Amino acid sequence: FHVDWDIVTAEKAGFDHFMLKEIYDQPKAYRDTMGSRISPDGRSVVLKEISMTPEQLRSINRVHIVACGTAYHAGMVGKYVIEKLARIPVETDVASEYRYRSPIITKDTLVIVVSQSGETADTLAALREAKRCGAHVLAITNVVGSSVAREANDIITTWAGPEIAVASTKAYTSQLIAFYLLGLYMAQELGTQTAEEVAAVIAAMKELPGQVEEILKQSDALKGVAGEMAKHDNLFFIGRGLDYAVALEGSLKLKEISYIHSEAYAAGELKHGTLALIVEDIPVIALATQHELLEKTVSNIKEVKARGANVLGIALEGELELQKSVDSTFVIPKTLDLLTPALSVVPLQLISYYASLARGNDVDKPRNLAKSVTVE
Ligand code: G6P
Repeated sequence: FHVDWDIVTAEKAGFDHFMLKEIYDQPKAYRDTMGSRISPDGRSVVLKEISMTPEQLRSINRVHIVACGTAYHAGMVGKYVIEKLARIPVETDVASEYRYRSPIITKDTLVIVVSQSGETADTLAALREAKRCGAHVLAITNVVGSSVAREANDIITTWAGPEIAVASTKAYTSQLIAFYLLGLYMAQELGTQTAEEVAAVIAAMKELPGQVEEILKQSDALKGVAGEMAKHDNLFFIGRGLDYAVALEGSLKLKEISYIHSEAYAAGELKHGTLALIVEDIPVIALATQHELLEKTVSNIKEVKARGANVLGIALEGELELQKSVDSTFVIPKTLDLLTPALSVVPLQLISYYASLARGNDVDKPRNLAKSVTVE
């Protein structure tokens, strides 16, 4: 009796690629990252890993979020989340810029570094600079015992499990969950949201893993869409508010593994330049999940449609008006506006995956890229 034992195949757990496996790992990653950080009655967030006293937390007058690549995009969502929930001004920077622009860092600055690997050279250097200036440094990382984890004052570990594919998926979404938990925790401590408001966000967060499972069940619907997109050399993502932050991540994912040139635009900025590039048949992915901004986004969709763009809308269930203004729609389950990134990015990950496959690329090991960049 002989079994061909191939460790790599075993680790892929029946999936063709690590990236696909990691996309499907997300419901578990969400559950594990929330885990015991939500109180048993579901009404508050427990972050034992934060060592700041309530007085220290109250003295924080600005937050800097610093990261690279996909982690930076998670930080862009983090900015919205912390400003909305905790009402503290937040700046988000790429680490390689932050280090060299003499940022204003004091002991009343909370610096949050985000890094899947915890080993990215620029992020680590930013962390050291922040500490040198006396800031409190909080790390959001996926690797326990990494350099970033060892040097930060506090660590929120994302429990996504090992991420092997170069293109980050479950690490990014677990970082989003970490930001939601942190934003809620700060809101609780600072009293910027009522207990009812906090409980409502927590209740909606608990729905997210099941909602991602629902999205994954529809993944076949995206194969054809991605196959068509793979025939193009240029593609655009548009969105406003949190949808813009997700558009940036969707565009990066697509570039990394399909090698299709794409740009993400804040939908309202289109007419200040990029609209000139919208020609007949060009694919546009329009994220339109933010209720307050929906009408505005629809008018931007009409602008690109009028130039012949082929628009795929990413919309919340029930938004029929929006569906009428696009060529096709991928529907995501209903959630709070604040939480949509944790759902809307999933179809974008799948589109990138299938577009990369359609182009015959090495999905897990894209050309010229490394999983962890430990040099400047
Ligand atoms: C590399 C990877 C990206 C990642 C970035 C930051 O460029 O290819 O997927 O987002 O590094 O990595 P980190 O480990 O710091 O999150």
